[in-house]
Amino acid sequence: MPVRSRIIGVGSYLPTKILTNHDLEREVDTSDEWILDRTGIRERRIASEEEATSDLAFNAAKEALKGAGIKPEDLDFIIVATVTPDMLFPSSACLVQQRLGVKGIFAFDISAACSGFIYAISVADQYIRSGIHRTGLVIGADTFSRVVDWTDRNTCVLFGDGAGAVVLQADYNGRGIISTHLYSDGTLWDFLYIPGGGSRIPPGEEMVKKRLQYVKMRGNETFKVAVNTMSEAIGEALKSNGLTSADIKLFIPHQANLRIIQAVGKRLNIPMERFKINLDRYGNTSAASIPIALYEAVMEGEIKEDDYILLEAFGGGLTWGSALIRW
Ligand code: UT7
Repeated sequence: MPVRSRIIGVGSYLPTKILTNHDLEREVDTSDEWILDRTGIRERRIASEEEATSDLAFNAAKEALKGAGIKPEDLDFIIVATVTPDMLFPSSACLVQQRLGVKGIFAFDISAACSGFIYAISVADQYIRSGIHRTGLVIGADTFSRVVDWTDRNTCVLFGDGAGAVVLQADYNGRGIISTHLYSDGTLWDFLYIPGGGSRIPPGEEMVKKRLQYVKMRGNETFKVAVNTMSEAIGEALKSNGLTSADIKLFIPHQANLRIIQAVGKRLNIPMERFKINLDRYGNTSAASIPIALYEAVMEGEIKEDDYILLEAFGGGLTWGSALIRW
C-alpha cells in the first residue's frame, strides 16, 4: 500500500460567547427571519477580548493531539490556515508552536481564506506522502469578529469565530487522504477581501476613516461563484477517483450559507442528509468551518472506518478545492 496521510486525531474550539440573530437585530437593520431565511444561520460564537486566533487554534490543537494520543514533541510540522492571524507576522502557527512548547520543527500559515483548511491539508499531505515527514498538525482558525464591520448588515450577520484541528500521520493501510484538488482565480480577488492594513493601504487615519480595515464582499456574485466552484470541486474529486456521489458517506462543505449547499446538492443530485451542516450554530467560521464540522461528524459517530468523506470549500482569492478522504 502507498503511504497516505491519515487523520488520527480531531479537535475543535468555539468561544463561549454566543451572538444570536436577535442580538444582531439590536445592532443593525436586520431580522432573525431575514438571516435565517437567506443564510440558515441562527447564531455564531464571538471570541472574548483576551482571545486571538492563535488561542483558538491552540485549544483545538490540544484536543486533536489528545485524540491522536501523541505529544507535541511527536510533531514534525504545524500549519495554520487563517486570514485573521494574531499579527501580520510572526505566523499564528509559530505562536501555536510556542504554546505547545515544541522546538526544532517548522511552522507556517497558509492564506486561502475559507478554503484555507483544504489548502493546508493538501500541503501537509505532500510532506507526508513524499516520505519527508511523518506527523503534522493542521489547524483552520479564524476570528472574523475582529475584521467584520459591525455596522454593515451585508457582512456582519454571516461570520463567527472558531478553530478546528487535525493530526495527520503516515499510514500504510490504504486509509487517509486519497486526493486533494486546489484551484484559484485571482481575477476575482475583489469579491471578498480586506483592503486596509497591508502594504497597499497601511494602517492609518485614512484607512480608519474609510473603514478599510474591514471585510468587503460582493455577496450575490460570490454566491453564484460559490455554487459553481463547489460543484466543480466535488465533481473533479469524484471523477479523478472513479467514484460517484453514492460512494461518499458524508460531504463536509464549507459552512457559508445553507442556500449555497442546497444549490450544490440540487445541481449534483445529492440529498441534503448527506451534507454535514452546523452553520446554524456557528455561521461562517472561514478556515475553521470544515475542521469543526469534521470534528462534530466524528464525535457524533457519523463516520466509520473506511468510509469515504469529501471536504469542499470556496473562499476569498478566489480559492476553492476539495479533499477526498478514506476514514
Ligand atoms: O466564505 C465565503 C463567504 N461569502 C459568502 O458565502 C457570501 C455568499 N453570498 C451570500 O451568502 C448571499 O449573497 C448573502 C447572504 C450575502 C445575501 O443574500 P441575498 O439573498 O443574495 O441578498 P441580496 O444581497 O440580494 O439582498 C437582498 C436584500 C437587499 O435589499 P433590497 O436591495 O432588495 O432592498 C439587501 O439590502 O436584502 C437586504 N439585506 C438585508 N436585509 C436584512 C442584505 N443584508 C441584510 C440583512 N438583513 N443582514
